[in-house]
Amino acid sequence: MTYEPTKQPNVITIDGPSGSGKGTLAARLAVHYGYNLLDSGALYRLLGLKAQQQSLFVDGAFCDGIVPTVQLVDLALTLDIQFIPNKDQQLVVLLDGQDVTQAIRTEQAGSLASQVAVIPEVRIALLQRQRDFAVLPGLVADGRDMGTVVFTDAPAKIYLTASAVARAERRVNQLRNMAIDANMNDILSDIEARDRRDTERAVAPLKPAEDALIVDSSSMGIEEVFAELVRYIDLKLG
Ligand code: DC
Repeated sequence: MTYEPTKQPNVITIDGPSGSGKGTLAARLAVHYGYNLLDSGALYRLLGLKAQQQSLFVDGAFCDGIVPTVQLVDLALTLDIQFIPNKDQQLVVLLDGQDVTQAIRTEQAGSLASQVAVIPEVRIALLQRQRDFAVLPGLVADGRDMGTVVFTDAPAKIYLTASAVARAERRVNQLRNMAIDANMNDILSDIEARDRRDTERAVAPLKPAEDALIVDSSSMGIEEVFAELVRYIDLKLG
């Protein structure tokens, strides 16, 4: 009797700072290859939101400055979330059955997310949940540590970056398109603060995997970046 080797899902990782365009590109690549999509930042945003609903945050900071690690790990393990693609191929995000697609995209939710994301126990609690997205035919995983921690064996790894100013400009436009009021200076200092938190944290800091393709999209259009990524992925996936 001969055994067919079990087919493994192909995983494409896209890491990079916020506003680098990786969310848009990851979604487009998922459609292009017919793969599943993991927006890992959404998991941290959902956890931040849930923690706020549970009053673990007050005025955007942990109560009394004490990190409630045990409660956060418990929430991370039990988060009731669903990602449902809508007719425009965009993901509708549900938390406890409620649509929080817009609520998790605010700067405030981003700030809560980056505070829960520095806690090692929280990252471990979310690890298996993220790996469970890697099912056939494949996965495009978008985040900060997809290539360095979560999917270290991924055959195609991308690190997408852009200057802080270019990213702030894109974020302002993105928020205004969603009818959310946005101030350039506030967004820029928020992005710089988040970059510092993401790159300087002890656990799973934002950095390119050694075997990643690094793309600086500061002066590139989305189509140009997309074409470069597809060329690289096709080469890597054969
Ligand atoms: O990609 P994003 O802006 O939605 O991410 C929100 C926050 O979550 C960001 O500050 C960093 C954190 N994050 C992380 O630590 N690891 C990931 N894989 C994804 C996001």
